[in-house]
Amino acid sequence: MLKKRTSCFFFLILFCWQNQIFASQNQFAIATAHPLATKAGEQILNQGGNAFDAAVAISAALAVVEPAGSGLGGGGFWLLHREQDSLDIMVDGRERAPFAAHRNMYLDSSGKVNKTLSKTGALSAGIPGLPAALVHIAEKYGQLPLAVSLQPAIYYAKQGFPIGERHLRMLAFRHKALKNSAAASQIFLDNGAIPKLESILVQTDLANTLEALAKYGKNGFYEGKIADLLVQAVLNEGGGWSKHDLKAYQVKERAPIIGRYRNIKITSASPPSSGGIVLLEALNILSAYNLEKQDNITRKHLIVEAMRRAYHDRARYLGDPDFVDIPIQQLLDLNYAAGLRSTIRLDKALPSHYLTGWQENETKGSDTTHFSIIDQHGNRVAATLSINFPFGSGLVAAGTGVLLNDEMDDFVSQPGDMNGYGLVGGMANSIEPGKRMLSSMTPTFLEDNQRIAVLGTPGGSRIISMVLLAILDYAKGNGPESWVQVKRFHHQYIPDQILYEKNGLTEHEIKMLAELGHHFKQKSYQYGNMQAVQYNKKTKQFSAASDPRGEGMAMP
Ligand code: GLY
Repeated sequence: MLKKRTSCFFFLILFCWQNQIFASQNQFAIATAHPLATKAGEQILNQGGNAFDAAVAISAALAVVEPAGSGLGGGGFWLLHREQDSLDIMVDGRERAPFAAHRNMYLDSSGKVNKTLSKTGALSAGIPGLPAALVHIAEKYGQLPLAVSLQPAIYYAKQGFPIGERHLRMLAFRHKALKNSAAASQIFLDNGAIPKLESILVQTDLANTLEALAKYGKNGFYEGKIADLLVQAVLNEGGGWSKHDLKAYQVKERAPIIGRYRNIKITSASPPSSGGIVLLEALNILSAYNLEKQDNITRKHLIVEAMRRAYHDRARYLGDPDFVDIPIQQLLDLNYAAGLRSTIRLDKALPSHYLTGWQENETKGSDTTHFSIIDQHGNRVAATLSINFPFGSGLVAAGTGVLLNDEMDDFVSQPGDMNGYGLVGGMANSIEPGKRMLSSMTPTFLEDNQRIAVLGTPGGSRIISMVLLAILDYAKGNGPESWVQVKRFHHQYIPDQILYEKNGLTEHEIKMLAELGHHFKQKSYQYGNMQAVQYNKKTKQFSAASDPRGEGMAMP
């Protein structure tokens, strides 16, 4: 439900936070994509919670205040570091295919992929993992009851908050999908039209769903009334969920991917995200070059060639580790990287079809969200959460306020076919009942003798290349303010082109790289929304930065 802007209270608070008028001397750092989510994390830390409680509060708050990026109807990966016993673990709350899903579910009678079905409406929605992950993190790692950590989100959902420009941009992008759902239109649209900037978005049903989760834990969402409403909504719209799909959903704990780039320890997401493996593979390839000594053009050429080869392996090998064997050791082996490096020429780009030939396609819209936390005890959380495209499938299950994801599009509908991010893949990421779809989300920790960093970003297939560029900037000695501002370019093997954000490359760079054989595509906007925090071991200072491309907020 949308209300006219009625109170100056929110704006005063937002103004104060954004301008750091409540400057915090606290011994922690938080960066999220929305000021109210950062505030939720701060509130929970100040109530005696640890980074894991704050992560629960922030994840739930983002579900309310940034519904385009993530939500109870979606999933994500929470990379946790518990300082007291140096535990590093990834909580995998990724969505999975319903049991009625099958390999050919998006093919029409002539065997062609129907590109709409996997991105919009009931058939595009995987079984959500986010609510189960919040319960798991609160119960296993938190210090506060789940009901306490969910309070800020419940408050925001009941009281409402003013919607910003980013929210409106995403609404415009998914207007048609949202209009298809009566419940979504009622919540997010104003009589079917895009609402005005700073209208107050109140989400009463979502508040009730969060309260059910607070009161009954996992059963409050995956069984009982909410589960019934979710299943009914999907069945009404032609999807194939059952109550068993929801009841059977389980969070998984996975060992993160760990590697090194120079003296930096890198801890990142493991399958079913491709993030950590592709990131480490690219860094391993780059590790033998002295990038700082290279001229700017050669440096960018080498980074692109490393991305090309690492994304090629993504397409060949990666999928849900519970369903496919992934040669992780091989992919992360320095000798394997040396073999790939030996195919790189300094004077020429390698056409991607020399690696294997698949057709080219467009990379389209992307959302998702990321937040980073370090608390006073040294606990860390890097969490990247998603409902895939902005506002997911566009379908809200009536009576729940829950916007369902369209994460099924991250599967390969047909080997060689491309998803909404232009990513190709093979059988390793084909649709199977109960399988998790391959992700690119890359929540990451960095650590060396001097510093600890936590970072990540939304951005679909470009997530990994954005984190890679930020790590190379960290390696130069720069801090979070710099990582989030790095100009972004990307190569994902197919399409065979360097995709770059608006102003991401100069005309001179494009000319010189084109002479090496590279092709280009410019985005009309700057992409990504990186949230990064750092702790300096020597000075004992915390710092944090929120991507200037977004509307987030970092503390301190
Ligand atoms: N849906 C974006 C990703 O998981 O990579």
